Amino acid sequence: MTDQPTTIETLPESRIVTVQQHILQEQKRFPGASGEFSWLLSGITMATKMIQAHVRRAGLTDILGSQGDVNVQGEVQQKLDVYSNEVLVHCLSARESIGVLASEENENPMLVHRGSEKANYAVIFDPLDGSSNIDVNVSVGTTFSIVRRPEGAGLNDPEQWVLQPGSKQIAAGYVVYGSSTILVYSVGNGVHGFTLDPSVGAYVLSHPNMKMPDVGKYYSVNEAYMQTFPPRYAEYIDRLRSGVLGQKYASRYIGSMVADFHRTLLKGGVFLYPPTASNPEGKLRLLYEANPVAFLAEQAGGMAIDGKRRVLDIQPDSIHQRTPLVVGSRVELADFERFVLEK
Ligand code: AHG
Ligand code: MN
Ligand code: MN
Repeated sequence: MTDQPTTIETLPESRIVTVQQHILQEQKRFPGASGEFSWLLSGITMATKMIQAHVRRAGLTDILGSQGDVNVQGEVQQKLDVYSNEVLVHCLSARESIGVLASEENENPMLVHRGSEKANYAVIFDPLDGSSNIDVNVSVGTTFSIVRRPEGAGLNDPEQWVLQPGSKQIAAGYVVYGSSTILVYSVGNGVHGFTLDPSVGAYVLSHPNMKMPDVGKYYSVNEAYMQTFPPRYAEYIDRLRSGVLGQKYASRYIGSMVADFHRTLLKGGVFLYPPTASNPEGKLRLLYEANPVAFLAEQAGGMAIDGKRRVLDIQPDSIHQRTPLVVGSRVELADFERFVLEK
């Protein structure tokens, strides 16, 4: 028996940091924050837990396959796209601090809490990224971007809330529903990853202060479209393969941007979605795909460009606008800039 009193600090549980605790800590960086931002983010953690539960049971319930509708991008909606969108809209519209929600699955941004003085944020999301992989048990995910209501933006103009360059994001992140479920987010103070502990239903800090390696071993691109890339993209990929950068790269391509990016964040290398014949502006959407990963890449010490300039500097002019994307480690991106941009 010791006569030392037991304090909270000595309990092993005190070493476990949940995402909620982490957000509360991070929130102290926002002057005058009242808890509204952590309440907002809890809407995302709640929704993504519900989505992952559905994804995990995908083969058992009637949730696989197409919904029969086509979304604003002209793409066939999967049932899980629709479910994920509904869950996010439901969970986030219960947060008073949110004034506008914009989703890949909705043509126009949605106004929530009309008239609420407390509605200071817009959340922009891709509810289910990689939906062609749902039916085949391959990783999918959710991406999100959070911006502040711009100065003077009225409640009658939700577009104005979301048409801001990515450099204005105050937080961004994603969840990968992979062999485990992991939430990765940043509020501009480093990148932190939380693995869902399914036994207790909590996201627990597993990857504090993530840094993208300066160089990696893999490039990640849909090589089937190589013939239709602008020639210098194809030449760049040849450079990676031929060993000009000091090693011969191998390739990895999942076809879910969120999972391909997650690997690139952890292992380094480069992920590209260049302009193609069928998508001359690239396929990925600026506001809810490229911007969140560009924000995280930069926060982790990597880079993201649209083939010409920094992704986070692009001023959007429409909600579903597409952009080419080259994102990854410093060494590979510097080579892209030297070889492709300056040639
Ligand atoms: P979504 O499922 O949200 O429409 O996004 C799919 C995207 C992205 O996740 C992935 O990088 C890309 O589509 C794959 O496209 P290709 O099949 O043309 O490679
Ligand atoms: Mn997507
Ligand atoms: Mn999607």
